[in-house]
Amino acid sequence: MKQRVYYIVTVLVFIFNFNISAIAQNKNESGDEAYRPQIHFTPLNNWVNDPNGMVYYAGTYHLFYQYHPFSSVWGPMHWGHASSKDIIHWKREPIAIYPDSLGTIFSGSAVADIHNTSGFGKNGQVPLVAIFTQHDEKKLQDKRNDFQTQSIAYSLDSGRSWIKYNGNPVLKNPGINDFRDPKVSWYEVSEKWIMTLAVHDKISFYSSPDLKQWKKESDFGLDIGAHGGVWECPDLFPLESNGKTVWVLLVNLNPGAPNGGSGTQYFLGDFDGSTFTPYTTNTRWLEYGPDDYAGVTWSNTGKRKVMIGWMSNWMYANQVPTSSWRNGMTIPRELTIKYIGKEPFLSSAPVKEIASIQKHKKNIGQFYVNGKKDITPETGKLIAPFRLNFELEASKDFNIILSNDLGEQLVIGYDKAKNEYFIDRTKSGQVNFKEGFAGKHTAPRLSSQQRIAISLIVDRSSVELFTADGLSTMTELFFPNKPYSKIEVESKDKVQINKMEFILLKSIW
Ligand code: FRU
Repeated sequence: MKQRVYYIVTVLVFIFNFNISAIAQNKNESGDEAYRPQIHFTPLNNWVNDPNGMVYYAGTYHLFYQYHPFSSVWGPMHWGHASSKDIIHWKREPIAIYPDSLGTIFSGSAVADIHNTSGFGKNGQVPLVAIFTQHDEKKLQDKRNDFQTQSIAYSLDSGRSWIKYNGNPVLKNPGINDFRDPKVSWYEVSEKWIMTLAVHDKISFYSSPDLKQWKKESDFGLDIGAHGGVWECPDLFPLESNGKTVWVLLVNLNPGAPNGGSGTQYFLGDFDGSTFTPYTTNTRWLEYGPDDYAGVTWSNTGKRKVMIGWMSNWMYANQVPTSSWRNGMTIPRELTIKYIGKEPFLSSAPVKEIASIQKHKKNIGQFYVNGKKDITPETGKLIAPFRLNFELEASKDFNIILSNDLGEQLVIGYDKAKNEYFIDRTKSGQVNFKEGFAGKHTAPRLSSQQRIAISLIVDRSSVELFTADGLSTMTELFFPNKPYSKIEVESKDKVQINKMEFILLKSIW
């Protein structure tokens, strides 16, 4: 009898819970909470950090990510999963990789093993192979330093289910605290895999014929670049430019970014299958805003390289004032080489596929600003998500102000005397949830041209600024107490705006 009652209660609890979660899923499916990004990837519920395992295969872009399925703060990491046919609209998929006795699943990459070097493919099928860090919290608590190792898993059903390799870990820890975030790519010239690994304050390169046995090739970075924090989430890939191959090494670090907290630096140079040799010793930043971190590129996209970043910062990621979910991804960005004089730089631009969510374009045209000018397209309506593209003939001071009727405002501007762009979110709404969030952040203007061309992508709680040929970019979060409903251009100088277009964007959900 006792057993029967227990059984009935269990079944009832299950049905009740199932219904509750089904309702919750439906309620949030459209993701309509005040701060919910409309054109950026977010999981329906709970915590997300780094993008992981991005691979393009058979017409699908896969995006895995650091995910805590039971909480909206960081904790035991799993790999969440989303897929897309056009890199803009995302389908939320079931969790892909779960923790096991070797540890939780930290950041890493995935490849399409076209030549079946791993032998995981059956009947001519190409295996997708994920290479990731396993983090053993118990070893860390026991004060050991070998708690992070690299493991692999494979999928034969388009990333839906993953089988862990029974020889894991494939790369043991030599006794170094921070030993993680493997980014693997195929090095065509010598037909081998290269693993780019973040090892505390440097990068180590490893090579492998089959993704299972790894040999150390070289170290890079101890005496070069920014070292304000631990090096994490690297990436290495070639870009063609002017008939030449330029190798790009992305290195994320936390803290130590130009505007505080976590950020992404890069190096350009040569890679010979074993060693990376940089062209210059200057520190270069891919992004100056505080809210683009851990960005790496999709594998198997040919010569085109597309990156996505985590749109947050470890300074306050666990405290941002959202409900149900916490954090999300940036707009995917195409990376190319651009030159200032003869010097190559890494440029980012929103992927061209974003054109598919363009709803309505309003050409505001040419005008002068002397003081403030309201350019709100339809007063009183919710305006985000939208894109604003504009050009000024000559560089002069100006501001773009997004505001609401509570007096909260986000100011995006250019300071001619300092030759820098800035985003000021000190009065943007909720800013006191964590010290370090409020602030005015700056980016140098890396361009020798007179003319200024800017593209802003604004969602319900973020802005992404692209200017100077994609060499000055900034990503910032904001949390107004009421949505911004007004857009103004402001200048103390008499500024001629040559072109201004406002593009309303459609939600991707
Ligand atoms: C970067 C990072 C990685 C690590 C992961 C853990 O944001 O710290 O180095 O693998 O997050 O979630």
